[in-house]
Amino acid sequence: MFTSDVYKKRRKDLHGKIRSGIAIFIGNTESPMNYPGNTYHFRQDSDFLYFFGLDIPGFAAVMDFDSGKDQLFGNDFDMDDIIWMGPQPSVKNLALKCGILKTAPLAKLDDTVKEAKAKKRKIHFLPPYRGETCMTLGSLLRENPCQMKTLASQDLIKAVVSLRSVKEEPEVREIEKAVDIAYDMHVNAMKMCRVGVSEQEIFGKIEGIAFARGNGTSFPIILSINGQTLHNHDHGNILKKGRMMVTDAGAESLLHYASDITRTTPVGGKFSSQQKDIYEIVLKANTESIKASRPGLSNRDVHIKACTVIASGLKELGLIKGDVEDAVSAGAHALFMPHGIGHMLGLDVHDMEALGENFVGYSENVRRSDQFGLAFLRFALPYKTGHVFTIEPGIYFIPELIEKWQSENKHRDFINYSKIDRYRSVGGIRIEDNILITEKGHKVLGTPIPKTVEEIETICR
Ligand code: GLY
Ligand code: MN
Repeated sequence: MFTSDVYKKRRKDLHGKIRSGIAIFIGNTESPMNYPGNTYHFRQDSDFLYFFGLDIPGFAAVMDFDSGKDQLFGNDFDMDDIIWMGPQPSVKNLALKCGILKTAPLAKLDDTVKEAKAKKRKIHFLPPYRGETCMTLGSLLRENPCQMKTLASQDLIKAVVSLRSVKEEPEVREIEKAVDIAYDMHVNAMKMCRVGVSEQEIFGKIEGIAFARGNGTSFPIILSINGQTLHNHDHGNILKKGRMMVTDAGAESLLHYASDITRTTPVGGKFSSQQKDIYEIVLKANTESIKASRPGLSNRDVHIKACTVIASGLKELGLIKGDVEDAVSAGAHALFMPHGIGHMLGLDVHDMEALGENFVGYSENVRRSDQFGLAFLRFALPYKTGHVFTIEPGIYFIPELIEKWQSENKHRDFINYSKIDRYRSVGGIRIEDNILITEKGHKVLGTPIPKTVEEIETICR
C-alpha cells in the first residue's frame, strides 16, 4: 500500500466535501466459487482500497463527517486463522498503516450504525455490486437488501467520483507499471499469433504473465479471431490464415491499478491488403484521437473525431458514401464502430463504474445520447488534468448487425452495403492505448507497445 499520509489526505478531502452524517465503507469478503472454503482470487473493493488501502478480506470502516474521525472495524486473527493462513498484523497495526487510530471488532459496526440511526443521522454508503455487501448493508440498516443500490448516497457518490477522477502522481506510476506488464502480454501474444496455435494457449500464456508480474488481469482477457464480437471471452478457436486476432488485455499492478490495452494481429504476422486497408484507418483514428486529447476538450468530442476519421477512411474504400460529417451525425458509422472511444482507468478498468456511469461520465448539463453507438459512450465530459483514459477505436464487421441494417434499409444514403463483402473476413480490429491528460495535452502511459503495421510484422517475424 501507499504510505499512511496518502490515505489520510484522501479521507481529509472527503471530509471536506460532505457536511454531516456518517459513511459506511464495506470492504469485500472472500467469495466462494463452488463451496465456501474454495474461493475466487480475492479482490478488494476499489473505494475501500482508495480510502483505506488494506488489501485484506472482512474489514469495514466508518467516517464520521461531524466529528471528523474515522474508525476501522475488523477481527484479529485467532489461532485457527494463523494455522491455516499464517500470522497477520493486529487490527490496531493495520489501522495505523492507513492512519487510523480508532478500531473495533467487526461485530461492533452494528452498534455504531444503530446509534447513528437512533440519532436520525444521515447514513451514507456507496452502491454495492456484490450480493454479500447488499446483505450486510441491509442487515446493518434494517432495510431490504435489494434496495441498497437505489438507497446509496448521491452526495457520497459525487464526492468520491470527484476525488478518484483526478489521479495523483503515485497512482499514475502504478498505472504505468500495469501498462508495462501489458506490454509483455501483448508482445508475447503477437509472437504466438501463428497458424495452428490455439487461442487458449495464448490466453493462458498472457494470463500467466499478468500474475507473474502483477496482481493478475484487470478484467477477463478478450482474445479471439472473432474480434467482431466486442467482448469475446471464448478462446476455443485454432488460429487460421486470413483472420485477425484481437487481444484486449490488461494487468493490475501490485496495488491494483489497471491497464487496458488492445492490439490486433494478422494470423501469421503479415497483413493482407484488405486487413491493412482497415487497420490503417483504425490506427489513424487511434493516433489522431490521442494527438487531440488535452484539458477542456471532451471525451465526446474525441469520440466524434475518431468516428469521423473512421467514416472518412471507409468512404475512401467505398463502404460509406455521401457527406462524412452528415453520416457521423446520423450515426451511420456505428454499423462499423458501435462502441465509445474510451473510458476512465484507475483502480477499476472501467474506473468507478460501480458508482454509476452517469455520475462518472455525464452531468446535469451533459446528458447521454440515445443514438445507437453514441449511447454506449461511457464518458462525455471535458477532460481535466490528471484524468486517465483509454483511447480505443475499432472497426467491426458484425454479420448479424449488417444483415439487420441492410434488411431495414437503414442509412442507405450513407452505406454501400454491396461493398462490405470484400472486407467481412477482416472480422474486427481495435487498437487501444492508455493516456494521462496533462496540463499541456496528454502523455501515452507506459512503454509504447508496437502498433504500426511495420512494427507488428517485425515482432511477428
Ligand atoms: N477492455 C474492455 C473494455 O474496455 O470494455
Ligand atoms: Mn477499454
